[in-house]
Amino acid sequence: MDLNPDLPTGDEKAEKVQGMFDRIAPRYDFVNRIMTFRLDVRWRKQTVQALKLEKSSLVIDLACGTGDFCCELENAEMVPLGFDFSMGMLQAGRSSSPLCQSDVLSLPIKDASVDGATCGFALRNLTELEPFFAEVSRVLKVGGRIGFLDVAEPENRFLNWGHHIYFDRIVPKVGALLSDKSAYSYLPKSVSYLPPHQEIVAMIEKAGFKQVERKLFAPGSAQLFTGEKA
Ligand SMILES: C[S@@+](CC[C@H](N)C(=O)[O-])C[C@H]1O[C@@H](n2cnc3c(N)ncnc32)[C@H](O)[C@@H]1O
Repeated sequence: MDLNPDLPTGDEKAEKVQGMFDRIAPRYDFVNRIMTFRLDVRWRKQTVQALKLEKSSLVIDLACGTGDFCCELENAEMVPLGFDFSMGMLQAGRSSSPLCQSDVLSLPIKDASVDGATCGFALRNLTELEPFFAEVSRVLKVGGRIGFLDVAEPENRFLNWGHHIYFDRIVPKVGALLSDKSAYSYLPKSVSYLPPHQEIVAMIEKAGFKQVERKLFAPGSAQLFTGEKA
């Protein structure tokens, strides 16, 4: 995918993303459920299952937002810790897990100290992916598991056409009506930050993970990357 030239990069992107999520935080969960027809809830559950970690595993949820993944990890009887740089999103959280305001590119965690890591719909919001994967690799124990969930484009041509009509035309209008016009115009465009999935898999492997796999979730508008710390 080619990056849309109107999209910010580097520090400008980080500031814009942080400010945007602070702004939309109070209605984020409500709008998310409507926009995805609650599929986001199912995709997170499937991600937690795909971790294949034991109960009581210590799992960090990176760019945790309002803590939806923390809630799913709690339901699976794991021990989540959430990290996000948007205080607005953290304050709007419903999870009872500890949440910490932090940049996920520089985590306040010791080397090789956690069993797993999740990240939901945030890869495209980060300024850089390789340093992020390296940071996750640093804090995971050998054998630790990752589950990174983000949006995707359906491979089927007809579904892809429908996907674009929905995300490019309907989502910005519904978002403007229910929450914030500029944020929900930006979010569909931000998909172009994501490199092709083969490149993401290669970056995760380079960061020190093995058995890296990518799976599409029906109807092809979400993708999951899993792997194990080598
Ligand atoms: C689309 S939201 C996803 C929230 C949550 N993971 C979910 O599944 O709904 C993206 C989140 O990434 C966070 N974020 C983006 N870049 C970040 C960074 N460098 N460090 C920490 N959080 C970041 C934003 O603040 C926002 O809460």
